Amino acid sequence: MCGIVGYTGTSQAAPILLDGLARLEYRGYDSAGLAIRDGSELAQVVKSTGKLRSLIEKTDSGRSLAGTCGIGHTRWATHGEPSQTNAHPHVSGNCTGSACGQVESEVVGVHNGIIENYLELRDKLSRHGYQFYSETDTEVVVKLIDYYYRKYKIGPVDAINRTLVRVRGTYALALMFRDHPGEIYAARKDAPMIIGVSGENSYLASDVPAILNYTRSVYYIGNLQIARVLPGEVHFYDLNGDEVQLERTEITWDAKAAEKNGFEHFMIKEIYEQPAAVRDTLASLLCDGKISLADTGLDDTTLRSVSSIRIVACGSAWHVGMAAQYILEDLAQIPVRVELASEYRYRKVLSDDRELLIVISQSGETADSLAALRKGKDMGIRTLAIVNVVGSTIAREADHVLYTHAGPEIAVATTKAYSSQLIAIYCLAVETAFMLGRIDEEAYEYYIQELTSLPDKITRILEEKERIQWFASKYSNARDIFFIGRGLDYAISLEGSLKAKEISYVHSEAYAAGELKHGTISLIEDNILVIGVLTQKDLFEKTVSNMAECKARGAYLMALTSYGNYSVEDSADFTVYVPKADPHFMASLAVVPLQLFGYYSGVARGLDVDKPRNLAKSVTVE
Ligand code: F6R
Repeated sequence: MCGIVGYTGTSQAAPILLDGLARLEYRGYDSAGLAIRDGSELAQVVKSTGKLRSLIEKTDSGRSLAGTCGIGHTRWATHGEPSQTNAHPHVSGNCTGSACGQVESEVVGVHNGIIENYLELRDKLSRHGYQFYSETDTEVVVKLIDYYYRKYKIGPVDAINRTLVRVRGTYALALMFRDHPGEIYAARKDAPMIIGVSGENSYLASDVPAILNYTRSVYYIGNLQIARVLPGEVHFYDLNGDEVQLERTEITWDAKAAEKNGFEHFMIKEIYEQPAAVRDTLASLLCDGKISLADTGLDDTTLRSVSSIRIVACGSAWHVGMAAQYILEDLAQIPVRVELASEYRYRKVLSDDRELLIVISQSGETADSLAALRKGKDMGIRTLAIVNVVGSTIAREADHVLYTHAGPEIAVATTKAYSSQLIAIYCLAVETAFMLGRIDEEAYEYYIQELTSLPDKITRILEEKERIQWFASKYSNARDIFFIGRGLDYAISLEGSLKAKEISYVHSEAYAAGELKHGTISLIEDNILVIGVLTQKDLFEKTVSNMAECKARGAYLMALTSYGNYSVEDSADFTVYVPKADPHFMASLAVVPLQLFGYYSGVARGLDVDKPRNLAKSVTVE
């Protein structure tokens, strides 16, 4: 949600900030803005609605804004419609917020997150003579900082500190103060923010891809900490205003990984990166041909003591949890419960102290997943995070971390991170099963062999993409799609359905195939597309029967199964085959044609598949 960038150094700031915003556009894309300072001159503010392109044009690719210090923002609206007035940066002065140009203000700022008590703070500030030009919570927080700054005649760090203890919510802030040229101040609570330093230049961003081209050496600013960023130098402070030392972390991601590299969209590039993402994640969990969870800190004694597993996550990561439930219960024979993080966080939860709480998250910043993790920790439950972004909040707060190695995922719709999360679950399931004596050495080796064969099988599916591409273009104007499957195939259907609807905006639902006739089958009529997922041998016949019931009511049937199951063609109108693998691991293969289906349906409809409407990559607000 919303992307923030900042730069102070020896180069012109605006082109660097626009470049960073372009790499963060997946975090929000309804408006964008920059504030640039040239020495002791007042800040120049430029904002624009719509995609970043219009800000780039408005500023002549940044050339019209001189100055070596600045902040930028790309917005995903929470408070107030997308408009130039509501776009960031916001200023403390009593001006019209839509105006661009030099602004006579003490404080200029950008913000990611939500300030929950902004109306109460706005009332307070109004009583002190402040006027508000926008509907945003950001303008309130900028003005509150200004209020403390002037009233107590204190420095930026103290003014920000006083503000942080008054605001409730989640936020990352980047601010410039009129009296402090060349400096940027940053603060965060439960929203991501990193700071990188290279030579005489300093960078600040909501996410790693924005600064990868400039530096890999970053600080992860802590919750309720403040950073004072100067050219080539940064200082951190706690809520008392005392300076604190933070460690630098080296980012290992390749800058090229955050580029399209000749692909039309990030999404298709990331679909094609899945063999590598799966291979790399697997390699990180294998040592001398055996699974090793040593890096997570989960030792044998701990694993043996686990009596049940609860998985919490959102969206596609929750779909991984749904698949995990079948796999872990079958292999390790441990009871597993899967919950949506947004539900788990607000309900009375009964757990015993031998439960393992697994939080799955690509970004490691999803607000509901983070809240669920904290709730589990408060209850004294052991927590394991399966996370892709190194140093993210969930990774830092969990007791144990299993990093996936998908690299930077830029497209809003997840593909390679989902596939890497599945690998993490498979390894956890096989290792736990072996440790608990549920599988013998022979089976253990067989599963590892099956796992290592997955990347090549995914490559093979990608080599045959034309068939699904053709089918997706043909059905891109479908009104409704139903994905059905049983067991693990139901979990795969959930992901296939989400990919279809979020990218192509075609209404779709995933149903446990046996559940359809308990109500939903009334929606099946002539030419409705029903996609049956049939990778589980034991459930194959059952799902085929459910598909036949849909066909009898006029549905057009697509089947997704593995090579060899040719009898499905007796019922299905169109069939897609994937290579065979152990049934526990079939989600890794069956999901690929469904990702391609969602992608090519969106492309056929002329949609911006990397940035579907109303969505943002990392959901750091509730
Ligand atoms: C869908 C998608 C989302 C995310 C969800 C959780 O394609 O990407 O449903 O899976 O927002 O995000 P993370 O994994 O970052 O917690």
